[in-house]
Amino acid sequence: MDLAKQEQAMLDGKEGKAVKKSMGILVALGEIYNAKKLVDVTSVQIAGVSYDNLGDAGLEFLNDLAKDGKVKVLTTLNPAGMDLENYKNLGISEDFAVKQKLVIDAFAKMGIITTCTCTPYLVGNSPHFNQHIAWSESSAVAYANSVLGARTNREGGPSALAAALTGKTPLYGMHLDENRNAQIKVKVEAEIKGTDKFGALGKTIGEKVKAKPAYITGIKEATIEELKSFSASIATYGGAAIFHMEGITPTKTPIPTEEITITQADIDKATADMNNADCEVDFVSVGCPHASIHEIAKLADLLKGKKVKKEFWITTARPTKRIADQAGYSKIIEEAGAKFAADTCCVVAPIKGRFKCLATDSAKGCYYAYSKNQSKIKIMPVEKLVEEACTSPAGDKEMVGVKQ
Ligand code: F3S
Repeated sequence: MDLAKQEQAMLDGKEGKAVKKSMGILVALGEIYNAKKLVDVTSVQIAGVSYDNLGDAGLEFLNDLAKDGKVKVLTTLNPAGMDLENYKNLGISEDFAVKQKLVIDAFAKMGIITTCTCTPYLVGNSPHFNQHIAWSESSAVAYANSVLGARTNREGGPSALAAALTGKTPLYGMHLDENRNAQIKVKVEAEIKGTDKFGALGKTIGEKVKAKPAYITGIKEATIEELKSFSASIATYGGAAIFHMEGITPTKTPIPTEEITITQADIDKATADMNNADCEVDFVSVGCPHASIHEIAKLADLLKGKKVKKEFWITTARPTKRIADQAGYSKIIEEAGAKFAADTCCVVAPIKGRFKCLATDSAKGCYYAYSKNQSKIKIMPVEKLVEEACTSPAGDKEMVGVKQ
């Protein structure tokens, strides 16, 4: 790989140990993928933030880099293992909290903005068309490449951090035009509306096309929330880092000749597959990917004057929670008994075994609740989730869903 003079100096240790180590990671990665050179990045998003995933070895790696490492570009984090301000209310142990805070401190020492979210594009880390970036979170990567038109591979935690400390990433994969073109056309002949249905569509397409970039037709309109749900789902169930949606996403691609059709029956099957019949809901969660202020406003409207009877988490970015506080949405939601889980989510938080059946509007949430937390699952629209949350658990004779 050709290195510029300044890049070679970084590799030689002229900018300190953290930069040297980071450049070593990037050069090794570039050589594996036959990158000819490095390219400047304008934004980084780092996954691998939860202490639940990192453990002490990960914490030691971060502390080592934090001795002399400082980020060169705007960098934010993926969700952590807990709400950094309100973890006690969510049942997170003090021992875990101490370790999680050490992880966040190490990132902060490197100059990283410790906003922990999988929707950085909603809270100020929002690259524009054609910018090269280095993001880790798969849903955000699919959203950035497809909806924003930025360019990023799906980075691992260490390679994203290395990009942040050097301002560089190897030029391969999604950074190159030829890898971004659609390889299969997907005709959607179904009515798709709502985050749950866009999630079911992402699951259906992902399972059929795997990681091939798809050119999707038949979607008349899609909100930001529906596109973030779709991005999460297609990446989870298939692995694609980019998709093209006719009339909706901004990127150009030749239209492929290979074609498949998705029908209403496919969407219904995907939805049915995510609904365990013998599942009695004891946990409701909205905000996978992290909820937008628009979703929180809608939840406040739906929960106004009600009381939830089940554990109900709204997972979101801290800055979005602050706006919800200012707008009065948080008060309405918390008076109803639902809880905010800012900075974290129900997949990365250490809650395995606490709940038996999760209800969510997120197809990605279903996948990980089942595979990581061994919880049963149900997927439904947000309106139905609120009804479900306000329904007493079986055996409880109290009137449900009424104003109190
Ligand atoms: Fe985000 Fe957690 Fe879902 S990281 S995409 S809320 S699994």
